[in-house]
Amino acid sequence: MHLSGSLSSWTAYLGLLSALSATFAPAVAVKEHDFKKCHQSGFCARNRAFADHALAASSWESPYNILADAGSFKDGQYQGVVLKTINDAGETVRLPITISFLESGTARVTVDEEKRQKGEIELRHNSKARKERYNEAENWVIVGGLALDKAAKVEQEDKTQLTVKYGPSSKFEAVIKFSPFSIDFKRDGQSHIKFNEQGLLNVEHWRPKVDKPAEPEKEDDAADSGNEDENNEGKEDKETKEEPKKEDESTWWEESFGGNTDTKPRGPESVALDISFIGYEHVFGIPSHAGPLSLKQTRGGDGNYQEPYRMYNADVFEYILDSPMTLYGSIPFMQAHRKDSSVGVFWLNAAETWVDITKGKDAKNPMALGVKSKTSTHTHWMSESGLLDVFVFLGPTPKDLTAKFTELTGTTAMPQEFAIGYHQCRWNYISEDDVKEVDRKMDKFKMPYDVIWLDIEYSDDKKYFAWDKHSFPNPLDMHKQLDSRGRKIVTINDPHIKNVDNYPVVQELKSKGFGVLNKDGNIFEGWCWPGSSHWLDAFNPAAREWWASLFNYDKFKGTMENTFIWNDMNEPSVFNGPETTMPKDNLHHGNWEHRDVHNLNGMTFHNATYHALLSRKPGELRRPFVLTRSFFAGSQRAAAMWTGDNQADWGHLAASIPMVLSQGISGFPFSGADVGGFFGNPDKDLLTRWYQVGAFNPFFRAHAHIDARRREPYLHGEPYTTIISAALRLRYSLLPSWYTAFRHAHLDGSPIIKPMFYTHPSEEAGFALDDQFFVGTTGLLAKPVVEKDKTSVDIWIPDGEAYYDYFTYDVIPTAKGKTVTLDAPLEKIPLLMRGGHIFARRDIPRRSSALMKWDDYTLVVAASKDAKTPAEGDLYVDDGDSFDFQQGQYIHRRFVFDAAAKTLSSVDYEGRDSEAVKEGEWMKKMRSVGVDKVIIVGAPASWAGKKTVTVESEGKTWEAKMEFTPAEKGRAAFAVVRKLGVRIGADWKVVF
Ligand SMILES: *[C@@H]1O[C@H](CO)[C@@H](O)[C@H](O)[C@H]1NC(C)=O
Repeated sequence: MHLSGSLSSWTAYLGLLSALSATFAPAVAVKEHDFKKCHQSGFCARNRAFADHALAASSWESPYNILADAGSFKDGQYQGVVLKTINDAGETVRLPITISFLESGTARVTVDEEKRQKGEIELRHNSKARKERYNEAENWVIVGGLALDKAAKVEQEDKTQLTVKYGPSSKFEAVIKFSPFSIDFKRDGQSHIKFNEQGLLNVEHWRPKVDKPAEPEKEDDAADSGNEDENNEGKEDKETKEEPKKEDESTWWEESFGGNTDTKPRGPESVALDISFIGYEHVFGIPSHAGPLSLKQTRGGDGNYQEPYRMYNADVFEYILDSPMTLYGSIPFMQAHRKDSSVGVFWLNAAETWVDITKGKDAKNPMALGVKSKTSTHTHWMSESGLLDVFVFLGPTPKDLTAKFTELTGTTAMPQEFAIGYHQCRWNYISEDDVKEVDRKMDKFKMPYDVIWLDIEYSDDKKYFAWDKHSFPNPLDMHKQLDSRGRKIVTINDPHIKNVDNYPVVQELKSKGFGVLNKDGNIFEGWCWPGSSHWLDAFNPAAREWWASLFNYDKFKGTMENTFIWNDMNEPSVFNGPETTMPKDNLHHGNWEHRDVHNLNGMTFHNATYHALLSRKPGELRRPFVLTRSFFAGSQRAAAMWTGDNQADWGHLAASIPMVLSQGISGFPFSGADVGGFFGNPDKDLLTRWYQVGAFNPFFRAHAHIDARRREPYLHGEPYTTIISAALRLRYSLLPSWYTAFRHAHLDGSPIIKPMFYTHPSEEAGFALDDQFFVGTTGLLAKPVVEKDKTSVDIWIPDGEAYYDYFTYDVIPTAKGKTVTLDAPLEKIPLLMRGGHIFARRDIPRRSSALMKWDDYTLVVAASKDAKTPAEGDLYVDDGDSFDFQQGQYIHRRFVFDAAAKTLSSVDYEGRDSEAVKEGEWMKKMRSVGVDKVIIVGAPASWAGKKTVTVESEGKTWEAKMEFTPAEKGRAAFAVVRKLGVRIGADWKVVF
């Protein structure tokens, strides 16, 4: 859902709403100037200026040194003090540093500030804010993997440096240099990541404000949103006068932007560090941004950005494409990749953060001579407040990185199975009749779907937890109609609580003190959908508990077991706030400033909702489904996300693929973009292509703005209806494989759709590709069409395996590293099957995923080019609803097709003893579910004439029918075995 950037457009929106007409609103694009550029964000400007100075100076020396005698190393952890020299007189401030070496092979560097730590500072404006640097981010984000590596050992130590060997077989090494402070992280003796190599480490220490009578004009300039030119002028003035360079102090104590003033009671407190990836040309991650997967340089130059990548969760509606601007959520995890090596960092800081990226040939880098690429990527991380806290991952594979990162931050929750089906949403389905009508039409047109969504208009005048009595008089009836086909309803419940009399929810929020406070310690009031509102403070455990109670079925009347929840606007969006969010000097639970926790805000809220859904009814324990717009590292444990308020144009369709891929490699793969584009009206071709893309988003939801024309998938006439149905059905038939991909994401943090660099980390030509991807472990390679009037695609083939067209079984004539052109008229999704894989489908089209639950499976085998290479695959299935899978109530099979041995077999994926698990109700019922069909694409020619195969399972042997179709005109030979008669949960073998 979008917001209007100002109060006046909000009022305009009210007018539209009451009309509820389908007329066009004038096209509105994001007002870029509503959001800060680096030069308008004091600490970003200061740190960039610091970097400019350091990098231009001929002999810059970082003023940070480790106090050699103060440090000690014990049990995998170094503790010491960094001294920051703050003036020519040699005065210093003490910055405690902890370097931890974890059992996983991950290293962590944490820098605090002693004075703030001890509370020996004075806050201005009588602020009640905490004095410490924010040190609780890890409480929200980190869920495991912090055990110290007791085997890490000091290899070498003297007055100048300390070398620690750590990690698996001690092949990792950290060389900690004392003066100036730097760390060189090595793997197998080679440098991969360097901290403070460029000397940009900057911890803005506390200092009292010295009121100078002079320069009143400057103060005014600063208040006028910090004009870069004038600040620069000031800087240059000073530089000519005196050395060393004077810092720009104009934004130390107060900053204004867009008419809002931040009182900054703690003064300047940013943390910044340069992190170099030695010999790495590509960096990925730090979502969410609407740009290419391989991140661009940000310091200007041809094709580069001028601005750093920004992470400051914000309601950036109709965002612009190819931009480093912040979006709704952020994950400060970055991986660098080069041929055969991936390394990465996780910058654990929830305050406003900017990252500059530059790439260059590195002459000072002899260690890189051994590798082909001599380009290094330099990154400069800047956060407004909090600890400097960075995790370092040394790979070497992309899979190692996602695994280690999610060991810390948690993996994707196993979803409700329905949640990976198709979701039908718009702002708004305006009444129960409307909902029921859409439901009937989907059935009438035989379009499968699982969920219909209710945006804000279902509520009683934006009072969440209460239904609009006129349009939704009997919500339970509506829920029951949907439930009869296993379908669900998702309602929106946002964190802003309408501030009106006679609304019990807001009265309790206020009386219990569960709202976010303003800088003076009074409940914060701002504007959002309901008009005047207060905000739930989900950092407060008591507030979360209260929030949970609101979702009980007897509290949130009109909801039942098939109601699930959408959390929108949780950046939080505040229409009249700075950058449409909260003032940074607002206070949260524990008196932490909003500044410190901003990027965590969305996660604490959707997590509160996740826990609310766990406790709706005593004794009912089912997997929640919560969709969130705002997120942070760790959100994957409790929610799905979508990419926010996109537009119905081809550019946004194309941008959605790298955005979803970026989520996937950053630990939060349950993601998708609004199908059709939220704003505007897609033409029929665009909408159709969008369904073809959506069918390959882990989260597949169509959504539309209230001013957009109705565009339910059955409305568009032929050939569109048929083509869109085909995309929906393709998704539904492949649900078993999607669900299996979620299982892998849940187990080890794997992405669900995977970019080429991830699956083929040795193939340099694929590193920057972000418009084609593999699905899970299926070997399905998709390259959807995202351009207008395009009827073919060029698809890059990453290896020498056989590739078959998914629909026709044509053998793709190609070779490793070649690009092939595939026909892709409107009805066609370019989708290939890579040889060497087996995946599962359910081929009977039904109206919802729930109705397919007990259907038999089809297994598709894509035979390898080389008969000696077996084809492999797996299928995971559980009840899709409860947590019983945690007690072993699931089926996970491994399939192997061995062409040489002429067998296809199914064994337990983990080698579990099938007798060891006591079968619950669901597993018992699964005894009746079997394998209906096996299709072997690329079947050996020698099978010609064969009519039967032998099947062995559960101590019996029998025959099943096989049909063999020989190769013809570019199409592979294939064989179909029908009615195997084996149970999906049992061991079995087919002998050809
Ligand atoms: C999620 O909520 C639970 C229960 O209130 C709490 O223990 C946990 O710390 C919360 N985590 C986040 C990320 O908000």
